[in-house]
Amino acid sequence: MLALQQKRAFRPQTVPAYSARKYIEQLQKKYPDYSYREATLNPTNPVDRATAWEADIVNWYRNNNEEKELIGVRSTATGPAMYLSRPIKITNPACLTCHGAPSTAPPTMIDSYGSANGFGWKQGEVVGAQIVTVPMSVPLERAKNTFFVFIGALVVVFLLVAILLNIMLEFVIIRPVKVMSRKASEISMGALNVAELEVSGKDEIAQLGRSFNRMHRSLANAVKMLDETDS
Ligand code: HEC
Repeated sequence: MLALQQKRAFRPQTVPAYSARKYIEQLQKKYPDYSYREATLNPTNPVDRATAWEADIVNWYRNNNEEKELIGVRSTATGPAMYLSRPIKITNPACLTCHGAPSTAPPTMIDSYGSANGFGWKQGEVVGAQIVTVPMSVPLERAKNTFFVFIGALVVVFLLVAILLNIMLEFVIIRPVKVMSRKASEISMGALNVAELEVSGKDEIAQLGRSFNRMHRSLANAVKMLDETDS
């Protein structure tokens, strides 16, 4: 089917490298700083020719045949960009039908691409590299956002705890102590007949309140006894 089609007219859409490039071109309309390249030293389509820095990566793979991945950062016009690359190695002999010699390639392909480029690839050779480039501003921006969300959440929790603690302090300690201190000043001024404190609960403040009431009563009794002996 494919062979038949190629006899009549070459359909570049059947070539993975072509489809990938066209697809990425669509994506780049929306994300111009992202790129995917099948950078090749001797490409069929000149747009795939490796630029200087891409050629460095391809040659690194050619010199380090076992390496499977190379990641790095390079500076671009729009700031630092991160790249991830993998070698394109000819492992399938079928690739050489179109990339081996012009004489064995589909004539319709030669008609559209010519016979000057993209031939002479060898089995087992690293001919290029797939290179994905992502602007560093994206991960940096994301890291910054995460940082602010985290710090924001921490501040909110901290504030909530502080407010809650203040409310509890107000109701559990400050208010009862204020009442007690008001009563203590009244008693110290001689108002021994004031009503006793209303005490409920079992906590330390309630115990203090009970002790206070006991002291109030003892004081009142003592003063009464003094008065009786006086008279
Ligand atoms: C039917 C013929 C055909 C076969 C088979 C074929 N290719 Fe290609 N290949 C092409 C054409 C045509 C292009 C150029 C596509 C374009 O215009 O983007 C291409 C492009 C490429 C590119 C991009 C660089 C360049 O040359 O422009 C790579 C890499 C590539 N092919 C690798 C392979 C590999 C690996 C295989 C085997 C798995 C393979 N090709 C099989 C025809 C073929």
